[in-house]
Amino acid sequence: MRLIVTGGAGFIGSSFVRLALSEGHAVTVLDALTYCGNLANLDAVKDHAAYRFVKGEIGDKALWPKLLAEPCDAVVNFAAESHVDRSILDASPFVLTNVVGTQVILDALRAVHAAQPQRALRFLQVSTDEVYGSADDRKPFTEQTPLKPNSPYAASKAAADLLVRAYHHTFGLDTVITRCSNNYGPYQFPEKLIPLFTTNLFEGKPVPVYGDGMQIRDWIHCDDHSRGVLAALERGKSGEVYNLGGGNACENLRITRLLLQYTGRDDTFIRYVQDRPGHDRVYLIDHTKATRELGWSPRVAFDTGLAETVAWYRAHESWWREIKSGAYLTYYARQYGAR
Ligand code: NAD
Ligand code: DAU
Repeated sequence: MRLIVTGGAGFIGSSFVRLALSEGHAVTVLDALTYCGNLANLDAVKDHAAYRFVKGEIGDKALWPKLLAEPCDAVVNFAAESHVDRSILDASPFVLTNVVGTQVILDALRAVHAAQPQRALRFLQVSTDEVYGSADDRKPFTEQTPLKPNSPYAASKAAADLLVRAYHHTFGLDTVITRCSNNYGPYQFPEKLIPLFTTNLFEGKPVPVYGDGMQIRDWIHCDDHSRGVLAALERGKSGEVYNLGGGNACENLRITRLLLQYTGRDDTFIRYVQDRPGHDRVYLIDHTKATRELGWSPRVAFDTGLAETVAWYRAHESWWREIKSGAYLTYYARQYGAR
């Protein structure tokens, strides 16, 4: 397939780009290189003959007709504002990118579909389990679970999912949605729990545990998520939603203790801080449908995956230090001229 991958310079998008190229697909990355977009995440593929990078906003209406005029079989939308805490500080960029940006892509695809109804052109929306809200009753989310987003981030992702559903229903676009649980792995921006805590501990700094630290997330390796997205792209039924999860439900405090152990630190590095407003207590996800219909299931065992991830951050100190110092922001200018 010839793919346009938005947000390909981010954490999971870059994992997907590496996978797609290794599986023989051609990839054009469209990425605005916001604070969390980092071309260093794509270093491994930068000279690949089937890879191309375009710097741009998904909400740029003028860009899409040009991109879609070229041969393309699918658009995979990873681009998003992705951090819950930032959405609590300011929801505006979340609405602009996650909702309006997605709608701009859908409208561009709608125009292509109207002009060339026979052209095969799939849209895959990379969504999240957070659209379901908190599983306080401990019942894992299925694709039938009602959407009850609690943070501005989750609300913006749910709004995008509903637009995707509507464009499939009203205009006949070929769409698939995936909803995945919490990812971990290499190249994750060090504002999220696992890379923030790991790098803080390397630096000898404390780790801020929100509230009582007993919130539950289901952790999945980013490469398993990428394999799930590719499976949904290749084998998913049009108009369907597929949940993806790691089957590793775990309290934040347990993760924290594992990270303390892997970095050779002790409990004195824990700082209990004020809880996140509206903090979802539990995410649990049922991915039976993806296993049954796509033949997908996660492969990376959590304890091995987490230990390897900590080892990756240890071995790639310059990657996270450039981010924590802000130096990574000059990467694009160094490679391509003005950012
Ligand atoms: P990330 O924050 O690491 O990367 C987001 C990427 O999108 C960056 O490269 C950024 O530059 C780009 N981007 C942001 N706004 C853009 C815009 N307007 N136009 C073009 N590019 C833009 O995010 P991530 O953690 O890799 O998440 C990727 C996707 O997966 C998101 O849609 C997120 O909602 C979803 N998701 C994430 C997780 C997780 O645990 N991180 C879990 C489930 C789903
Ligand atoms: O569930 C999927 C979602 O997982 C994705 O859609 C989001 O894009 C992704 O950011 C992630 O959201 P979370 O809010 O669950 O991830 P985060 O790493 O921010 O936090 C994980 C848990 O750790 C959560 O309960 C809050 C807690 N936490 C987080 C940070 C950053 C802390 O206790 N301290 C912290 O400093």
